[in-house]
Amino acid sequence: MRLQGRVGVVTGAGRGLGKEIATHLAAEGMDLMLLARTGSQVRSLAEVLAARYGVQAFPAAIDVTDAAAIDRVVLHAEQHLGTVDLLVNNAATIESTVVPFWESDVGEVWRVVETNLHGPMLMSRALLPSMVQRGHGRVINVTSRARAATRSGTYTGYAVSKRALTLLTESLAGPLAGTGVTVLDVLPGLVRTELTLSMPVWDDVTVWDAAGATGRVVTDAALGVYDAMHGTVLDAPALDGA
Ligand SMILES: NC(=O)c1ccc[n+]([C@@H]2O[C@H](COP(=O)([O-])OP(=O)(O)OC[C@H]3O[C@@H](n4cnc5c(N)ncnc54)[C@H](OP(=O)(O)O)[C@@H]3O)[C@@H](O)[C@H]2O)c1
Repeated sequence: MRLQGRVGVVTGAGRGLGKEIATHLAAEGMDLMLLARTGSQVRSLAEVLAARYGVQAFPAAIDVTDAAAIDRVVLHAEQHLGTVDLLVNNAATIESTVVPFWESDVGEVWRVVETNLHGPMLMSRALLPSMVQRGHGRVINVTSRARAATRSGTYTGYAVSKRALTLLTESLAGPLAGTGVTVLDVLPGLVRTELTLSMPVWDDVTVWDAAGATGRVVTDAALGVYDAMHGTVLDAPALDGA
């Protein structure tokens, strides 16, 4: 229970990697805000984590692109759990069609960018000021090499948003150096989730990376194991197997 008394916010916690990350953090005693649009998924996870690990876990059915809803979540966290020590920007989406950009629905491409980039920007903007003020905090951005996009020449919004998320991490790293606040990217590898199962480009995959690797590496990052790597990318399967 090495994170007992600490408070984390995990976006996209209802299923897939976010659920795995939240479960690993709760197993170390971290109190959590669990965010996703599907209320039933975050509600049921909050119940399970509270019962299994004795942590406080609050579900919040919000869209990470909704700035007002994020402010309400931060207020709720501070009032009921305490100041937030860890933000995990995990929520993301991907295009539903596999077409080159010039054939795409630009509205959908832009919604992907909004979720995957504007979401983490809004979350970070809401939580970083108090972290910097206290001289303590960690932000983890779950990103991607977007290999499917490179391989297929599609998923433009996903690729653009994930490359930009890494730039966001890099651009925060300089000004945060010396403040006591750490920012890191985490790469999950290729994990069987609703997101990857929606991608025909992975139909022939038979060997997947374990979601647990990302859960363990994010938990280690929350414990400060990777603070010296501030501003860089953690390859979860490689680090977990090392
Ligand atoms: N799986 C992989 O192999 C892989 C590889 C590289 C990177 N990643 C990254 O890992 C992260 C998790 O992906 P996953 O594979 O676990 O996908 P997933 O199973 O589809 O889960 C995505 C989560 O994000 C939430 N979400 C999506 N849009 C949202 C929004 N606008 N506001 C709030 N929550 C939202 C979803 O819940 P709702 O739909 O209910 O909102 C869900 O809980 C993503 O950042 C992804 O890019 C995954």
